Amino acid sequence: MIVVERIEDVRKELAAVRVLGRTVGFVPTMGALHAGHLSLVRAARASHDIVVVSVFVNPAQFGPHEDLAAYPRTLESDLKLCEGAGVDFVFVPGADEMYPRPPGVRIVVAGLSEPMEGRARPGHFEGVALVVAKLFNIVGECSAYFGQKDAQQLRIVRRLAADLDLPVQVVGCPTVRDADGLALSSRNFYLSADERVRALALPRALFAIRDAAAAGERDARTLLARGRDELRDVEVDYLEMVDGEDLRPVDAPPALVCGAIRVGRTRLIDNVEVT
Ligand code: PAF
Repeated sequence: MIVVERIEDVRKELAAVRVLGRTVGFVPTMGALHAGHLSLVRAARASHDIVVVSVFVNPAQFGPHEDLAAYPRTLESDLKLCEGAGVDFVFVPGADEMYPRPPGVRIVVAGLSEPMEGRARPGHFEGVALVVAKLFNIVGECSAYFGQKDAQQLRIVRRLAADLDLPVQVVGCPTVRDADGLALSSRNFYLSADERVRALALPRALFAIRDAAAAGERDARTLLARGRDELRDVEVDYLEMVDGEDLRPVDAPPALVCGAIRVGRTRLIDNVEVT
């Protein structure tokens, strides 16, 4: 496994493998890797000759009062996990490499960036779109793997790649959950034992909605009320039923149900498809 810190070295290494006709699977991450990230690596490994992982905690996607400074940085263990998972290249740029000057370009994926996370975290998706566009441009032609847990991000990245004609096929992969249902997230590292138990209210709410819909309930308001019952003891940022493509609110399934809660100082998001 080769660890690269500089953009020009990533380009050089990948040009050399492409000359040999090898295909590239790319997994962009902010590190603090867990089994969810490793499932993306496995998906990339299964379809490509070369797997590239990037580890970069992107300051541009954190608001001024968010957790940039506290975000878990576990590079040593990330590299071990990558090595164990058969990753070929890990790109670990510093902030100066990615942002040698304050960026003059802004990328707004209109519409998709506005509801839910966009409303709760102004500027977040501009930061995501900017870094993902840069990473796609650095890595070049590839399939790029993203988790469905960040459902809104996945749709935004797909749209970004399509609208800019980037030579990247964006692949969404299923959310990985702990046995008790909690979706894996680097932010789970922040939870105390007690908070972790309270955090289970979010998957419980989403599964309750999914099960009620499967049992025949069609009305979004009734379904969301059923979910909110489970969220009584946590602070709810939002719980919404939206169209799976354009993320506009819908009155009935099929839909994506997305939720965000705060438990203590930790903010968690999750979603389920309701058919
Ligand atoms: O999902 C993440 O970890 C980040 O938002 C991403 C896509 C790596 C961009 O920084």
